[in-house]
Amino acid sequence: MDDTLYKAAQGVLKNAYAPYSKFQVSAALKLKNGEIITGVNVENASYGLSNCAERTALFTAYAKGYQKEDIESLLITTNQAHIVSPCGACRQVMRELLTEDTEIILVNNTGKSQVLKNIELLPFAFTEDDL
Ligand code: THU
Repeated sequence: MDDTLYKAAQGVLKNAYAPYSKFQVSAALKLKNGEIITGVNVENASYGLSNCAERTALFTAYAKGYQKEDIESLLITTNQAHIVSPCGACRQVMRELLTEDTEIILVNNTGKSQVLKNIELLPFAFTEDDL
């Protein structure tokens, strides 16, 4: 596992705004130019408006002008003892905003990790090709 990327994600985990679930999530994108872009989950009293960490990081990267070809990997960590896998909404967004082969690294609260390819998280997806 990329230690720099993990430390970047761990470093912002405390910024997760999760007063309702207490379930803190952070994400860190490693760009091919070496830059790291992080994100955390941001909840809302109107629960459905909450934004996941993965999407926060990805939307930030795109807002900065980066696109899928610029991104090497996405690491996701939480304050949980088990390895947490991205929710369905995030998988759909990840499928469009990352390449199929982008490395996805899932890490628990002690540094135990599991690595997958983006496409493995959402096979037979609805994509822009269907439109
Ligand atoms: N959450 C994420 O940030 N990423 C995921 O992939 C799963 C869920 C957040 C949403 C909510 O703030 C909290 O975790 C509990 O669902």
